[in-house]
Amino acid sequence: MHSSLHAIFLLALVTLALAAPRNAPIQKRGVFKVERVPNPNFKRSPGAGTRALIKAHRKYSVPLPEGLVAAMNAANAANAASAPKSNSALTGETAKKGAKGNAKASGTAVAAAPLASASGGVAAKANGTAGTGKVTATPINGDVEYLSPVNIGGQTLNLDFDSGSSDLWVFNSQLSTASQTGHTVFNVAKSQTLQMMTGATYSISYGDGSGSAGNVGTDTVNIGGATVTSQAIELATAVSASFVEDTASNGLVGLAFSKLNTVKPTQQKTFFDNAMPNLAEPVFTADLRSNAVGAYEFGAIDTSKFNGTMQWAAVNTTNGFWQFSSEKFQVGDATPMAVPGGQAIADTGTTLMLTSAAVVNAYYANVQGAVNDQQVGGVTFPCNSQLPDLQFDVGGSFMANVKGSDINFAPVDNAGTTCFGGVQAIQSNLQIYGDIMFKSQFVAFNGGNNSIGMAPHQ
Ligand SMILES: *[C@@H]1O[C@H](CO)[C@@H](O)[C@H](O)[C@H]1NC(C)=O
Ligand SMILES: *[C@@H]1O[C@H](CO)[C@@H](O)[C@H](O)[C@H]1NC(C)=O
Ligand SMILES: *[C@@H]1O[C@H](CO)[C@@H](O)[C@H](O)[C@H]1NC(C)=O
Ligand SMILES: *[C@@H]1O[C@H](CO)[C@@H](O)[C@H](O)[C@H]1NC(C)=O
Repeated sequence: MHSSLHAIFLLALVTLALAAPRNAPIQKRGVFKVERVPNPNFKRSPGAGTRALIKAHRKYSVPLPEGLVAAMNAANAANAASAPKSNSALTGETAKKGAKGNAKASGTAVAAAPLASASGGVAAKANGTAGTGKVTATPINGDVEYLSPVNIGGQTLNLDFDSGSSDLWVFNSQLSTASQTGHTVFNVAKSQTLQMMTGATYSISYGDGSGSAGNVGTDTVNIGGATVTSQAIELATAVSASFVEDTASNGLVGLAFSKLNTVKPTQQKTFFDNAMPNLAEPVFTADLRSNAVGAYEFGAIDTSKFNGTMQWAAVNTTNGFWQFSSEKFQVGDATPMAVPGGQAIADTGTTLMLTSAAVVNAYYANVQGAVNDQQVGGVTFPCNSQLPDLQFDVGGSFMANVKGSDINFAPVDNAGTTCFGGVQAIQSNLQIYGDIMFKSQFVAFNGGNNSIGMAPHQ
């Protein structure tokens, strides 16, 4: 979920498309039918893994590998008969037109405000413990995403905290009725504190043109007691079908570095950057749990939430991500393998853990029956497999562990016999460590010294 410019920049990072190694230790076997019918007995719907993998590729504008394209087409064809065809283009008008057209609609309700400076809002004292704020992070549809309540101008919405992007945007009353269906929307007319930013717009798009776009205001944002009084709120006037269909989530809170924010003409700061001067410590933490409610906390590191000592590594902010080198991996007790030049980002807004193909192949070579399955576009294995742990290097400073049990992501069939792997390959210089990693590790993001800390969830 980034600007086109940013997407183009990222494209430059993507390695030349390499075909999946033909000699991969994972053997192919006969295909099986991908069931699309939801079954309440399963935690996750079949196809959730494929969708998560496609979403991550689009978020970072990484070309879809052949197998994934085929899997997507098969899934779309299966869906076409039963459901209205989903369109990846922005619903309604084009993003730009929509943003302009709707700016007027909200004109009477909110006062026009001078362009906010790039320095953004002023952080007020947080509620409760001085300089901290804490909210729950609730997993949706079997850990596909984690949602947290955010209060904006007195209205509470469940939003997806995304350490891989830097825009805070919401479903709101400017959207067409069709786009609002099933969502909790921010009512632009009902906020007493919203001030529109004249002429400001934002647009976040995927490589395929889907995304969200609209106009911008400032309002008071309270996340579990940590409050910013003049936070840039991006008000969607157009959203793509994938966001419309995900009725649990009503927008995103971007928590990567502010340099990735897409607001024009004046780029805006993230909630974390605005809140930081008033936080007890310049940190936020992600405590994401497997099939259980966890938390995001601003301003403090709750040492009761993990065992052992937190270890720290420097973050490379060049690309605007929580990025670190990750050049070594270890599968179970095997000899560590080197992946020279490997870089990774910690992304709470991505479901899976995406690594270089070499790591994926080495990992699943240890899993009986694992196959690179073209039908679902990724590696699957028998659901009852014993999966080894996967250790990965963080910034050359320490090795962190992903538990084998966290790598079993989702069944791909209604029988629940075959499962989709939580670790999958991406043909990009950037490895994306998403929620699969976070379930095994309690993670601290330190904006004071630009570092990332991890300690294992037991
Ligand atoms: C502070 O917290 C209390 C209790 O959680 C709540 O009732 C009150 O509205 C909060 N105040 C602000 C300014 O957020
Ligand atoms: C710490 O480890 C103990 C024993 O392994 C476990 O019972 C406990 O739940 C762990 N605490 C956390 C916060 O994970
Ligand atoms: C960053 O600050 C934390 C304290 O919040 C400290 O423990 C850690 O060592 C520092 N990390 C780096 C890489 O300097
Ligand atoms: C930081 O990342 C950029 C972009 O990936 C890279 O060019 C640069 O060498 C990195 N810096 C360090 C110190 O690793």
